Order: sequence, then C-alpha cells, then structure tokens
Amino acid sequence: METNFKLIAKTFFGLEDVLVKELENLGAKDIEKISRAVAFSGDMTMLYKANYLLRTAISILKPIYTFEANNEKELYDKVFLFSWEKFINPDGNFCIEYVVNSSIFTHSLYASQKTKDAICDRMRKKFAIRPSINKVDPDIILNLHIYENQVTVSLNSSGDSLFKRNYRKKTGVAPINEVVAAGLIQLSGWNRDTNFFDPMCGSGTLLIEAAMYANNIPAQYYRKDFAFKKWGEFSPIIWKGVVEKANKEIREFDYEIWGSDVSSQAIRIAEENITNAKLQFDIKLFRNDIITQEPPKGKTLIITNPPYGERMEEDDIFYLYEQIGSAFKNKYSNNEAWIISSDFEALKHVGLRPSRKITIFNSNLECKFCKYELYEGSKKAKKQNFNN
Ligand SMILES: C[S@@+](CC[C@H](N)C(=O)[O-])C[C@H]1O[C@@H](n2cnc3c(N)ncnc32)[C@H](O)[C@@H]1O
Repeated sequence: METNFKLIAKTFFGLEDVLVKELENLGAKDIEKISRAVAFSGDMTMLYKANYLLRTAISILKPIYTFEANNEKELYDKVFLFSWEKFINPDGNFCIEYVVNSSIFTHSLYASQKTKDAICDRMRKKFAIRPSINKVDPDIILNLHIYENQVTVSLNSSGDSLFKRNYRKKTGVAPINEVVAAGLIQLSGWNRDTNFFDPMCGSGTLLIEAAMYANNIPAQYYRKDFAFKKWGEFSPIIWKGVVEKANKEIREFDYEIWGSDVSSQAIRIAEENITNAKLQFDIKLFRNDIITQEPPKGKTLIITNPPYGERMEEDDIFYLYEQIGSAFKNKYSNNEAWIISSDFEALKHVGLRPSRKITIFNSNLECKFCKYELYEGSKKAKKQNFNN
C-alpha cells in the first residue's frame, strides 16, 4: 500500500484560503493552493480524515495518472496503456466525471467517451470481459481533468459532493450551499467565543453549520456513504479509528445560536433540518421580521443570507436591504455582522460602509460577503471608523 501520495481537495472560488487552514489543522503535508482547490499529500488515514472532517471541501480526489495529450488519438492511446485493472474490476463498473478546459479537446463529453472506450478496450483485450458504466451507484468514480494538453485522471474518493451532509432533507426557496455556509463562518474568523445569529435563516443551513463548528461535530457526522468504502484497499479499521477519534472531540458550546425568519414555512423547514441534525437543544428559532426580532443578549456574530432579488420587485428588495441596515444600526451595536448577496445594487441600500468585501461563489452565483462593524454612537463616528 502506498504510504504517502498526492491528494486534491476541491472547493468553491473564494474558499481556498480557509481550506488551506483546515488542511494545516489536519496535519496535511505539501499544501499548495490552486484554483478552486488545494493540493496536499498524506496517507490513507489523511484521505479518510479529509473526507470526514473538512468543512470547506466539495470532494477529495486522488490523482493516479497524469500525462500530456495533443489530440484524441494520443488521449486514447495513453489511457489504453495504463493499468486500470489495479483500480477497476474487469467485471465491475465505473463512471467518469469530467472537467475539460482545453482548446484541443473542445468537446468535453467526447473526450470522456474516448477515455471510457480506451479503459474498456484494454480490459476486454486483457480479460475478454469489460466493466460496465454505472452512473447511479458506481464501484469506482474516475475524475478526468484536462487543461489544454495536460490530462489528470483521479479517483474521486468522496462520491457524492461533500456538501451533501445528510442533515438537510428539505430546503426553502434559495438555500445556501452547506460548504459555502461553513466557509463563510470560517472567513468571518469566528472563534466560537460569542453567540451566533442569522435573522433570515431560511432552512437553517448557516445555523446548523455554526452549531456543528461550535460543538466540534465533524462535517460528515450525519453521512455514511463515501466512494472510498468501495475501493479494494479500503480499511474499515483505519476508518473506524478516524471516526471514533474525531467524534471524541465533540464538545458543549456555552453561547447561544439563534435563527429567525419572517416565513413560518421557512421556520418549519429549519426546525425539521435542525432536528435531523439533533441540534434542537443548541439552536433557538423565532418567526419574526428582521425589523422586530431582537438579537441574543451579549456579544454576537451575525451572518445572514437575504433574498437576492430574482423573485422580488426591485423597489421591494431595496427597501428590504434598507430594513436590514436599520436593524443592524438600531439593534446590533457593538457586534460584527456579515451579509452574503449577489445583488450588488441592493447591498448599497444597507446604508453602512462595509469594512471588508470578499468575492465568493455560492454554487455558480458570484456574491459579495460584506462585513459591517457596528459601533454604538453617532453616524459620523461610524463613518469615520469605516474610513480608517
Ligand atoms: C435566501 S433565503 C435564506 C436561505 C438560507 N440561508 C438557507 O440556507 O435556507 C432568504 C430568507 O429571508 C427571509 N426573509 C425575507 N424577508 C425577510 C424579513 N423582512 N425578515 C426576516 N426574514 C426575511 C425569507 O423568508 C427567506 O427564508
């Protein structure tokens, strides 16, 4: 068994730095930030830990074959040469997911089909039998990545994306991605030493991710399925050790985590998801408009994800963002508040100057994550502070 190998943790644009920190905390080696991903190295224990614990990774890939290909024939021939039988049973099945960004391979599906044909043809030639393609529940998931003439084939060790944490059975109209929610909490620099509040909590994603982080609950505590469990070299003993060690670190959190939303349907869904995560004693919910809802007493970090305006009239959305600004000014003094939104015009209507703006993608939508430092005192003082 290989002892140390290269791994790639994929993430969303804007979360690479927090993923680097998470990997440092895990003890990963050779950490290197790349576009929408972080490369690192480690052993099988590290691969299991990365899957179980990383909050800001979407999948963990294990590259197995890298080469150059300058045309389709070369792609086919070089794929044919590789010992796929080490990873795929000739009578088993597999699937290929692909990301192709190349002026040579302009038809990405075709490039993935050539790869599949070469693997199956090699197997048929060697064993007189070929594996089948299974997109629903494959034994092995290959990840084909082509950038210009650089081809990398990896094993996807995660399977379903790691944002599928398995606590969110229902969602509201525009739920935030779980990995993005976890990433925002990390980007805010929260040290788990204050209350946490989301006054527009929808289905409760930010609240659940905050509570999991606050209590040190592993990111995949509620999930059982990982692609690596089907690998021939899977070690149930090492996996059990990783899970048990991480679960022993779960601890109590001494502050409050609150969520509120104007919609009673959203609150019902949030309640259900929070109960699925067994966090009903850690999170308090209120059905209220942001303008009337009081925040928890004491130092509180506020992170919220208001509607982006696709489903609302422009005047209504601008008014809503003004209301958010008023709530921040009038009720949340001496705290930090963050808003994530893709509606850059609406953000101007908050009426406060953000002290930080971070570009981030919520799935495919470009957003700004804006920080507001809410000082008590006159408007003038606030302005001066924000100008510093
Ligand atoms: C984009 S969704 C939040 C999604 C949430 N982050 C999740 O993961 O499900 C925006 C939420 O703001 C709520 N909302 C809209 N206007 C509000 C108001 N005036 N006060 C409180 N909540 C409001 C909506 O009901 C909706 O649930």
